[in-house]
Amino acid sequence: MATPKEIKRITTHTLQNLKAEGVRISMLTAYDFSMARIFDDAGIDVLLVGDSASNVMAGHETTLPITLDQMIYHAASVVRAIKRCLVVVDLPFGSYQGNSKEALVSAIRIMKEAGAHAIKLEGGAEVIESVRRIISAGVPVMGHLGLTPQSIYKFGTYAVRATGEVEALKLKEDALLLQEAGCFAIVLEKIPAQLAGEVARSVTIPIIGIGAGNQVDGQVLVMHDMLGITRQFQPRFLRRYLNLYDKIKQATEKYISDVKEREFPSDHEQY
Ligand code: KIV
Repeated sequence: MATPKEIKRITTHTLQNLKAEGVRISMLTAYDFSMARIFDDAGIDVLLVGDSASNVMAGHETTLPITLDQMIYHAASVVRAIKRCLVVVDLPFGSYQGNSKEALVSAIRIMKEAGAHAIKLEGGAEVIESVRRIISAGVPVMGHLGLTPQSIYKFGTYAVRATGEVEALKLKEDALLLQEAGCFAIVLEKIPAQLAGEVARSVTIPIIGIGAGNQVDGQVLVMHDMLGITRQFQPRFLRRYLNLYDKIKQATEKYISDVKEREFPSDHEQY
């Protein structure tokens, strides 16, 4: 079921209502004006300017290298494109872990310079002071638990998280803590579906899953994965809705051949 068209603007409150009404929330990543315009026109609920920009836009191996300035550039481009959806922007690695004042300054820069509607950060108890401080300044915060890619060097692997009792218990406690601190939603990444469902039922704020099964309140995918622009990344949770890599490659090959063969431009395509 699509989010009702009479909702002119998606806010954090809309998301709460969608959860209460049992309507699933759709979320995708976006990093530029043109794609954000298409997703917004299609009726997406939330666009996440993810720090996955570090991987899919800049070609880094991890999300760690992207800077706050670079995130603001991507976020401002997305905000300029949209009319209806909620735009959430990742605080990049190194912009909030130092202390809560640094976290607040980074969040304010994203809100002021990009015109974003909310920020997302990774972690639970470790970052709770920052979460509280950012929210008390009036900035909505989305949490992110489970596989948190900014901690990849601590985890050592992109495997499913919280399969053991200790980590699962901490994750459930962290979700409650983030809700109590005032987060408006939480992303759960790559954890068992059963655990994600338990968390979703234990809180009143929306839980958005990526590789977290179908018992949560919404789903998010990285746009390059959903559209089949990336090819090597093939986790079990990913459904590709297009094979854009091949389609773009074929179109480019045809363009090259038309240029070489003097087929383009034709008489109708010149002045
Ligand atoms: O950066 C990102 O794209 C994300 C999603 C995977 C949730 O955080």
